[in-house]
Amino acid sequence: MPEKQLVWDIWVRLGHWALAIGVGLQFLTGGELAWQATHASLGLLILGWVLFRVLWGLFGPASARFATFVPRTFAGLRLSLAALAGGTPERPASHTQLGGLGVIILLAILGLVALTGAASSDDIFFEGPLARYLSSDLVSLATSAHHWLTTVLLVLIGLHLAAVAWHQWRLREPLIQGMWHGRKPVYSADPLAAPTGPRLWIRGFTLLLCCLLGTWLALGA
Ligand code: HEM
Ligand code: HEM
Repeated sequence: MPEKQLVWDIWVRLGHWALAIGVGLQFLTGGELAWQATHASLGLLILGWVLFRVLWGLFGPASARFATFVPRTFAGLRLSLAALAGGTPERPASHTQLGGLGVIILLAILGLVALTGAASSDDIFFEGPLARYLSSDLVSLATSAHHWLTTVLLVLIGLHLAAVAWHQWRLREPLIQGMWHGRKPVYSADPLAAPTGPRLWIRGFTLLLCCLLGTWLALGA
């Protein structure tokens, strides 16, 4: 096994597992009247965290930037597909081309689910904080969009888990350990090292706090 290097900084990793747990809880609380307030608050925190990941992907360390894994050509995506089917392994420093596309779509749908949730209403007991500013037609549109987007999200999560499992057990690439401790085997001649240290903690923490507070103050009850 080649040498390992830190590729996922602490904020990418914390964000990933917080999102995974948070989204899981959203599916448990979504249809439950007794849990609607928790569902709404957690949903807004998820939206804040998605916003953080978008800003981190634009202005954060190179290893976390979208520019390092957004697919630019169809040929790149085809190579990714061929690698999945057992062709030449892609083994990028960060996400594969196909994985990168999946990450962008997952984040976009997560953001849309949370935003439509904030404009939803069950017409009886509960409404999201944006619903009071919208016409009843728009609220019912947002509510049905919230329902079908959660189904799209479930399908995407299923695909995400299937792709991770395929890489992990079929192609024997330790991705899950990588998302846990941050280190991945270095195959590339041009490896991406994630930063560590107090500056990274302070930068990430400040940005995260601004995103969570900003979302809460803008959309909270
Ligand atoms: C609701 C559930 C989940 C969501 C919404 C989700 C979302 C994401 C996102 C957005 C990323 C990109 C990380 C980044 O660059 O910031 C990612 C990567 C990853 N996720 Fe998940 N995830 C979920 C559950 C899981 C679970 C349960 C596992 C493991 C069993 C997992 C394993 C991974 C791995 C290994 C990667 C890195 C893939 C790579 O190395 O390219 N995810 N996930
Ligand atoms: C990523 C975030 C979110 C996820 C995964 C999610 C998921 C869900 C799910 C699975 C349901 C049940 C749908 C059904 O019964 O068919 C639901 C319902 C609901 N959600 Fe969310 N939600 C999220 C964010 C939010 C937010 C931020 C709010 C409000 C601030 C919200 C408000 C609602 C409301 C009002 C309902 C009930 C709608 C009705 O009874 O027709 N959700 N959500």
